[in-house]
Amino acid sequence: MHNTRDSFGSKFGAIAALAGSAVGLGNIWKFPYEAGNNGGGAFLLVYIFFTVAIGLPVMLSEFALGRYSGRNAFGTFDRLEPKTVWRYFGVLVLLAATMILSFYGTVAGWTLEYVFKSFTFSFHVGTDVDLNTMFSDFITNPYKPVFWQIVFMALTGFIVLAGVKKGIERYTKLMMPLLFVLILILGIRACTLDGAMEGIKFFFLPKFSELTSQGVLSALGQAFFSLSIGMGVLLTYASYIKKDENLTSISLQVICADTLIAVLAGIAIFPAVFAFNIAPDSGPGLVFLTLPQVFQSMAFGQLWAILFFLLLTMAALTSSISLLEVIVAFFVEEKHISRRKATVISTVIVTIFGILCTLSFGPLKEVHIGNLSVFGIFDYVSSNILLPVGGILISIYMGWRFDRRLLEAELTNNGELKLWLLKPLIFVLKYVAPLFILVILLHSLGLF
Ligand code: TRP
Repeated sequence: MHNTRDSFGSKFGAIAALAGSAVGLGNIWKFPYEAGNNGGGAFLLVYIFFTVAIGLPVMLSEFALGRYSGRNAFGTFDRLEPKTVWRYFGVLVLLAATMILSFYGTVAGWTLEYVFKSFTFSFHVGTDVDLNTMFSDFITNPYKPVFWQIVFMALTGFIVLAGVKKGIERYTKLMMPLLFVLILILGIRACTLDGAMEGIKFFFLPKFSELTSQGVLSALGQAFFSLSIGMGVLLTYASYIKKDENLTSISLQVICADTLIAVLAGIAIFPAVFAFNIAPDSGPGLVFLTLPQVFQSMAFGQLWAILFFLLLTMAALTSSISLLEVIVAFFVEEKHISRRKATVISTVIVTIFGILCTLSFGPLKEVHIGNLSVFGIFDYVSSNILLPVGGILISIYMGWRFDRRLLEAELTNNGELKLWLLKPLIFVLKYVAPLFILVILLHSLGLF
């Protein structure tokens, strides 16, 4: 029925696209500062636990469901559950994708400015700029960050417009290997800084006394965010995976790549944090404050700076295209709009919300709901509420409602592959994941 639908051309292409979605600002920008805020190694341990125990089962569910239905996230539930409340899951997905992409574009815009700064301002040896002032002057400026956000969103739209194989797959296959090599080199360089050991200790030695229940929720939210699970992005991508690929092996590779890059980012950042006396809990600015310091102390610092911020931009791009694709695929497949029109409409909508997030560091600084800015709200609501809720719903749907034989057929390619973990998988989906996520969610909201 969907013979003309686009798909990934090869297994490597599928993995590059999926890992591209998973590996992003979440790993390199967010993970280190979340860990810095929540007890370093303690956060890392809890994070890895959630990734394996809950992330993997939910990811497998999304893969199976998406490939089975061969449709975008909204259309999947619309077709499988036309008459039940499950249908509205699709609305949640679209909302979450829009919210995440909005604030994502803000930070991705910052990385573009830093690419530009590396070319012109040069973070090379002996440059004595106050990086704190530079960063805060920039993000509070009413025009510059908005400009870069628009540039970034246009790039995202450009790739998505080109389609799944010719756009998404083609660019992620190019960018992901590059990203990996660079973060590895930066990690090694950071470890050879004077005083690097302090940072490594901070990152790997668990200090559980500093891990609050809010921190545990953040670790769960971060695991979901980093793996791109809980809201139909992977479901949509999985609908482009060919029927003879092994979903279990793909998901394991994606999870390993994602965790490895997060750990490498921590290794690249914390030694520098301690070597240069930066507060490890300095929040969203961490990457923009620490790494330029490292570059300033390196031979060819300017070159490294350019490469690093370019690659951070690429990591962001390979993720933002997956978020935009969810919205675009909805318009194309459900509303029967051309891909071109759908891409333009979605990009414009998201950019408008995104600009509000960006301005919330400058002109809209005073606008607060609770104690959160617009940016803070978008980030908190999507990562810490919508993603966990999405995770609960997908687990319940696959554990209780979806036909188990269909799930098995999808994961084994109709019996061709062995699957030893079906029983534990179902158990986790039925009981462990929903209860766990729910308790943490209620607790963090102060309701439990
Ligand atoms: N996983 C990406 C990151 O770590 C962000 C992302 C892309 C995402 N697609 C998503 C997060 C879907 C949640 C849901 O930066």
